[in-house]
Amino acid sequence: MSIKLSSGKEIPIEMHKARMVQKIRLTPVDERLKAIQEAGYNTFQLKTKDIFLDMLTDSGTNAMSDNQHAAMMKVDDAYAGSMTFYEFADAVKDVLEYKYVMNVHQGRAAEHLISKVFAKQGDVVPTNYHFTTTKVHIEVTGEATCLEIYTDEALKTESTVLFKGNMDPQKLKDTIKKYGKDKIPFVRMEATTNLLGGQPFSMENLKIIKQICKENGLILVLDGSLICENAYLIKQREKGYGNKTVAEIVKEMCSIADLFYMSGRKNTCVRGGCIATNNEELFEKIKPWLPVYEGFFTYGGMSQREVAAMAVGMREMVDFDLAGCAIEQIKYFVKRLVETKIPVVTPAGGLACHLDAKKFLPHIPQSQYPAGALTAALYIASGIRSMERGTISMERDKDGKEVFADLELTRIALPRRVYTVSHIEYAVDRINWLYKHRDLIKGLKFVFEPPVLRFFIGKLEAIDDWGRGLGEVYKKEMGSY
Ligand code: F0G
Repeated sequence: MSIKLSSGKEIPIEMHKARMVQKIRLTPVDERLKAIQEAGYNTFQLKTKDIFLDMLTDSGTNAMSDNQHAAMMKVDDAYAGSMTFYEFADAVKDVLEYKYVMNVHQGRAAEHLISKVFAKQGDVVPTNYHFTTTKVHIEVTGEATCLEIYTDEALKTESTVLFKGNMDPQKLKDTIKKYGKDKIPFVRMEATTNLLGGQPFSMENLKIIKQICKENGLILVLDGSLICENAYLIKQREKGYGNKTVAEIVKEMCSIADLFYMSGRKNTCVRGGCIATNNEELFEKIKPWLPVYEGFFTYGGMSQREVAAMAVGMREMVDFDLAGCAIEQIKYFVKRLVETKIPVVTPAGGLACHLDAKKFLPHIPQSQYPAGALTAALYIASGIRSMERGTISMERDKDGKEVFADLELTRIALPRRVYTVSHIEYAVDRINWLYKHRDLIKGLKFVFEPPVLRFFIGKLEAIDDWGRGLGEVYKKEMGSY
């Protein structure tokens, strides 16, 4: 939650205490420059020994609770019929109110199974916005096309619209008319829309989309990887939800979807995932494929220790303080940047603080990857690892042509219960320093480009070796640290 100081200033306050910690190291700027050069200007390729604040992602990097650690000590390690799995299934029944559930090793494994079972060549899948792995599974596994039908406001990075993650109902109706319902295996809504800058959809919008799906006999799939953040934002922003608990809002969201999946790496703070539903027929269609790709029904590719921790995490994730812990930090982070007019996605959402690289670095064309350049520059100037969410994160089209991203974002994620306000203040300071020196940053070019999800292992080079120049100016003005 946030707390008001006597000065009137509001700060995010940690509703937990650290009882186990990991030492981190801030390396001098010379070492940071060497590390990013060796990483091919790709922050995925950095080693954590060279990273000060790891804000790449909240996926699998959240602090687990004492109760989760305790649960991992007492598990039923059976290949088949493990009671640990049934404890997890009970948690799903209680929290999400779904009768049928299977574990998968992580979110994209759910996307793989759902695309494999439901999509076929020539189909289209309407979604409020794609996620990288979702799009690849719809298009590669399902041989279908991922269609984004967001609202006009979604791509405006500076906005006061509270639900930029909404799907446009009219565009959905038009899509159904254009392609025909037989070509639509499912409609996908993503909570706290990741690539739009962590923006939520409203309950009202979810209900409208469901109604359209129902009228046309279409399956509504909910990607609930960030469901609790979306629920927390509905509580804060949507009329009629202020007095409901996050747990109640999550239940209502789940009751609307026909099929639910999540990466457990985010909200439940473990390394795993699941698919759940109350529709037995849909469940039975997916189930035979689970042991082919993931593992037996009662572990689905996860270790039982993680299943046990996920059972606890499932119950804990709807706690108000945990659901809002990243959101309150992001709100503060964004507010501090807006104060000095740094271009950042507003309103603040879930998952991360997102810098708008198109506005931060207007001199860099999209063909030279402004978000990639800003992400690398932030590392050089601070030791903070963030993530490129722009054109580098897009796939080339069938003819090998570059597809420019709608948004060029540098995503600075806030894993749950990991970083503090002083870490955020440090980030704010170095981002401001970078903004003053933004003319020193130039573009990037690929020197190695893999055929799929190139942002993970691709290597790039700084045009005119700008990283060196930036490092030198930093050292002159700030010293090594
Ligand atoms: N859906 C959403 C909305 C996600 O954010 C992610 C992962 C996935 C599906 C895939 O789940 O990683 O467990 O296979 N997001 C991570 C991120 C990778 O950094 O935002 P996964």
